[in-house]
Amino acid sequence: MDCTDLRGVYLEPREIVPKVFWVGVNDCVKDLFESLWPIPGGISYNAYTVIGANGAAVIDGVDEHLTYEYVGKIWRVVGDLRKIKYVVINHLEPDHHASTSKLLSLAENAQVLISPTGAKIVESLYSIPKDRIVEVRDGDTVSLGDKTLRFIHTPWLHWPETMMTYLEEDGILFSCDAFGSYGALISGIFDDEVELNYYIEEAKRYFSNIVSKYSKNVLDAINKVEKLGLKIKVLAPSHGPIYRKHVDSIVALYRDLSQPKVCAKVTIVYGSMYGRTEEIVKAVAETFEKSGVVVDLIDAARVHPSYILHLTWNSGAVIFAFPTYDASVFPPVKEVMNYFYVKQYGRGRLAAILNTFSWGSSVKEAVETLNKSGFQIVEPVIATKSQPTSEDKKKIEELVEKLVTELRKLGSCP
Ligand SMILES: Cc1cc2nc3c(=O)[nH]c(=O)nc-3n(C[C@H](O)[C@H](O)[C@H](O)COP(=O)(O)O)c2cc1C
Ligand SMILES: [Fe+2]
Ligand SMILES: [Fe+2]
Repeated sequence: MDCTDLRGVYLEPREIVPKVFWVGVNDCVKDLFESLWPIPGGISYNAYTVIGANGAAVIDGVDEHLTYEYVGKIWRVVGDLRKIKYVVINHLEPDHHASTSKLLSLAENAQVLISPTGAKIVESLYSIPKDRIVEVRDGDTVSLGDKTLRFIHTPWLHWPETMMTYLEEDGILFSCDAFGSYGALISGIFDDEVELNYYIEEAKRYFSNIVSKYSKNVLDAINKVEKLGLKIKVLAPSHGPIYRKHVDSIVALYRDLSQPKVCAKVTIVYGSMYGRTEEIVKAVAETFEKSGVVVDLIDAARVHPSYILHLTWNSGAVIFAFPTYDASVFPPVKEVMNYFYVKQYGRGRLAAILNTFSWGSSVKEAVETLNKSGFQIVEPVIATKSQPTSEDKKKIEELVEKLVTELRKLGSCP
């Protein structure tokens, strides 16, 4: 069974601990998350319902096209939707709250709990009546009788308004995008029910694609939660499995990803129409390999930037190698450079440039983009005619030697 087999299939809600339910959904329809990132295994939007003695709370929601499945699950666990006292918005992005207007029209007694920053942004996205919105400050709590929700502001994960919700009596942290991963939930919803290795790899790709730019905020959030001394028995993110057996491992993974330890690895991102550039980078890759540096050789025209970012997570250096195309950097390589710029994914890494051309180089454009991406560019920048002269070959050797020396200083990769 894969995600496409699950299209249109209704999955029952699941009880996480007594009176706390997963009411999320799988999205097996979208090909690209955020219209950018391939999700061949789909993605889950996890939402939760907490049923207390004095009413219920719903934590987060789902994307618009799955609203009915989500509302149906909530109805199944609370019975009367008018028993819902609160709908918590941890993060406003439409993958979590495009469903909320519909829920609020049915859950007519519910108030929306949101961070003050979220309250300022909410009307840019959704039409929620102002008198239903209640701002919660950092550390505030609300009681459902025998269940208490505490709100922890964790801004910029990856929007300015983000917060987490902690259910005190059960030790559940609803962390929204933090600790999330791509991949629909097929064999179960818990870390001990699914093929965890798949989701861990997809968590790494998700991190590099979605939250890496805000790594410092991820670290701040983890440190804040740890400082508060909250006991986390269950870590319930909004994408991917719910952790009850491996809470410490997923927290440690996110901590590692947010302060990547780059090692002696070079990623060569190249494009080549007629094979000249490819011939050069293949020879360069061999030299690196002989020097004990790990090499990833990636054809930018055939591998999606989502995976290129992911594969680069521990690379100490990235070489961008490209022909000039209509006076510009070859478009697929330029596209990857742009992703590195938007995500600021060059930080803490070296970059090198290798341009082949017939009548005019395009290195200026490459230098400009890579400088803005946080990379430190290693000289010499190479601009060579399709057939490198012996002078060009010497320069390439010089560049590779320099990179090997720098990469060896980082230590070998685990
Ligand atoms: C469609 C097309 C456009 C090109 N535009 C330029 C250009 O603007 N300036 C230039 O110097 N060379 C240009 N070239 C030549 C290539 O940049 C050059 O031959 C390069 O080394 C080809 O590398 P490859 O064999 O890896 O594709 C162009 C080639 C093609 C096919
Ligand atoms: Fe998000
Ligand atoms: Fe999300």
